[in-house]
Amino acid sequence: MRILKAKDYLEMSRKAANLIAAQVIMKPDCVLGLATGSTPIGLYQQLIQGYQQGDLDFSQVRTANLDEYKGLTRENDQSYYYFMHQNLFKSINVKEENTNIPDGTVADSAAECARYDEVIRALGGVDLQLLGLGHNGHIGFNEPADSFAKGTHCVDLTESTIEANKRFFASADDVPRQAYTMGIQTIMSARKILVVVNGEAKADIVQKAFFGPVTPQVPASILQFHPDVTLVGDEAALSKIN
Ligand code: F6R
Repeated sequence: MRILKAKDYLEMSRKAANLIAAQVIMKPDCVLGLATGSTPIGLYQQLIQGYQQGDLDFSQVRTANLDEYKGLTRENDQSYYYFMHQNLFKSINVKEENTNIPDGTVADSAAECARYDEVIRALGGVDLQLLGLGHNGHIGFNEPADSFAKGTHCVDLTESTIEANKRFFASADDVPRQAYTMGIQTIMSARKILVVVNGEAKADIVQKAFFGPVTPQVPASILQFHPDVTLVGDEAALSKIN
């Protein structure tokens, strides 16, 4: 695993964006696995700048997002569809038909999960998967569990995730209780993985996930077995690992 230490959030965002930019330049029709949450917002801004300056062209890029809340429509400002359009897609030249996100409005979980796995398979798999890290070690919405989930599946969110995400909703009661997420096997099948972390609140889980035992109780710990992982973090998030 490569670890890139940044002095602050802006530098973390720049370093991570550089790695994504390199992927897009080297393989213009690459498949980017994308994440939502607070951590990647700065790196998305950097990618937008790269596009505006004429350094990056997303016209052939395909994307596959990690997850989506079940029950939220695209128009809901808390859906991950909405997030991706607001924070990245509307400001770059990626084609709408080349972007993929699980459809939270499909009630039939088995059908939607099978469809999404087929989408990723048809894309030829993910070249570079971007991941944030949950405080409980979740990646995507793969929550601590007794075993590692494989393909796309529908999960019940844990109390700690509902608690962490309620800041975006009017109240904790408004946070959806379920989500569709790529599974651990799908994430591990990506050719490269880029994890971004910032802030002191992530320091303990960074230590556990990357230097503790590999266990489904800390889903991100499985990344220790992936051959090409880059962790980009600010000093605060990396403070407990060296
Ligand atoms: C989002 C996702 C989540 C987040 C994680 C960290 O698509 O898959 O696993 O990456 O919850 O969220 P932030 O970045 O808000 O700390």
